[in-house]
Amino acid sequence: MQIFIDSANIEEIREAAALGVIAGVTTNPSLIAKEKRDYRETLGIISGMVDGPISAEVLSTDFKAMLDEAQSLQAIHPNINIKVPISAEGLRTITELARRGIKTNCTLVFSAGQALLAARAGATFVSPFVGRLDDISNDGLAVLNDIVTIYNNYAIDTQVISASIRHPMHVVESARIGADIATVPYKIIMQLIQHPLTERGIEKFLQDYQAAF
Ligand code: E4P
Repeated sequence: MQIFIDSANIEEIREAAALGVIAGVTTNPSLIAKEKRDYRETLGIISGMVDGPISAEVLSTDFKAMLDEAQSLQAIHPNINIKVPISAEGLRTITELARRGIKTNCTLVFSAGQALLAARAGATFVSPFVGRLDDISNDGLAVLNDIVTIYNNYAIDTQVISASIRHPMHVVESARIGADIATVPYKIIMQLIQHPLTERGIEKFLQDYQAAF
């Protein structure tokens, strides 16, 4: 499973990219708004930092406006794919963008049925929001599992991005289920690195060495 970073924060992305474990970036309007920087400028900087898929979300909700926005976002950098929320207009947009050879990430997916339609429309990626389902007492990982199973049943090549990750075990379980990608906030990437036995082990090795020499 590949790891993307779910962030629009330039510093976080730079630091995570330096670890060598990040294969792509997902952003969304809320993440961009948090940074209070120009949207296009931010996407341009991110595209220069990570050599992999960068998801940029449309703000419009109707077919024609989403298409125009998609063309304009895609012009920023060839690695940018267009994040389109699932809806009837969204599926039309994904279908047309696929016809034009523009990659898409169908977002705000909360059911296997939505994910099946996204794939049939030709989405490059689909993003089930695991954490937001858990937040309302649904089983986000069960939905992720259904999507991966259905895609495998029919050799669907849309890639599944496990999104809305809330803690390290969401990442591990997403990998166990067989998601292609997990998009992970910076804080959780850092939590994944840590283990108390590793810290204690490093301390003990140093103590032993220093005691002897
Ligand atoms: C996915 O691409 C989204 O940006 C993200 O994972 C949403 O997560 P949230 O539920 O923490 O906002």
